[in-house]
Amino acid sequence: MKRIAIAIDRVDWHARRLHAAFLALDMAPFFVSLRAVAFTPEGVRFPGLEGLPDAVFVRAIAAGSFEEVTRRLGVLHALPALGVAVWNAAQAIERCVDKSMTAFLLATAGIPTPETWTVEGREAAVAVVTEAATEMVLKPLFGAQGRGLQRIRVPADLPPPEAVAGVYHLQRFVPPASHDGFCDYRLLMCRGEVVAAMTRRSAEWVTNLHRGARPTAFAPTPEMMALAARAAAAVGADYAGVDLIGAADGRVMVLEVNSMPGWRGLQSVTEGSIAAILARRLVA
Ligand SMILES: Nc1ncnc2c1ncn2[C@@H]1O[C@H](COP(=O)(O)OP(=O)(O)O)[C@@H](O)[C@H]1O
Ligand SMILES: [Mg+2]
Repeated sequence: MKRIAIAIDRVDWHARRLHAAFLALDMAPFFVSLRAVAFTPEGVRFPGLEGLPDAVFVRAIAAGSFEEVTRRLGVLHALPALGVAVWNAAQAIERCVDKSMTAFLLATAGIPTPETWTVEGREAAVAVVTEAATEMVLKPLFGAQGRGLQRIRVPADLPPPEAVAGVYHLQRFVPPASHDGFCDYRLLMCRGEVVAAMTRRSAEWVTNLHRGARPTAFAPTPEMMALAARAAAAVGADYAGVDLIGAADGRVMVLEVNSMPGWRGLQSVTEGSIAAILARRLVA
């Protein structure tokens, strides 16, 4: 029986679904807080475990000090060298948590994505906004769930550096493709294939479900599937939540890639169990 660690600090709906899915595959899943996984003279030690698990499914990394988060990522970096499969790999998690690195990797891979600038200091941000001369979106570098996004029309809209931890991550705003509200797409990808997909519609321009957008089941076009697969590959993610947006001219672009995506909303419009698919792929 293979032992699968589900890394999470507070067991949530997703972690419980994964646990059940691994059990159904005759695996031995257990929950672990990365906080409790130690580096020792012998290597890496999991609490209450003889030896190491066969795989780690990283559901979440809890917030902590710079040192704490670095150490937890260090553990995830170390495990593959000890023969432990890690989903997603620490490098993929790092590349997605930092939205500037995601944007860089997407752009250099030739994947259509709105132009993005990431600079330090308000003066540098003013220069970007002035030069771009179109509406921009300011995003927290480590943001998620649609928190803290701001439309920037003129340099005066830029908040003080304290509001953005000194880093201005600016992306060209993609105006809505239609007049009846805002819409984007979430594709959950795993190893190059679509696991599930939905549209997210809202009267607000930030279409995260956490911000009240409505999910609808959606069959992505081959172009969208290929784009999302390339985006996940560009960051090295085994599974990923890829956000796509359609521009008014019909082009589809990648907005961001999530390496620890939730899928509760997606599951609500999807027939099969998403956790079961992810678990099956990891075991395979
Ligand atoms: N460049 C953009 N143009 C238009 N809408 C955007 C843009 N960037 C983000 N959004 C809207 O804001 C939402 C959240 O942005 P996203 O980059 O996915 O950050 P988060 O990590 O918070 O989900 C998107 O799903 C989309 O609705
Ligand atoms: Mg998003």
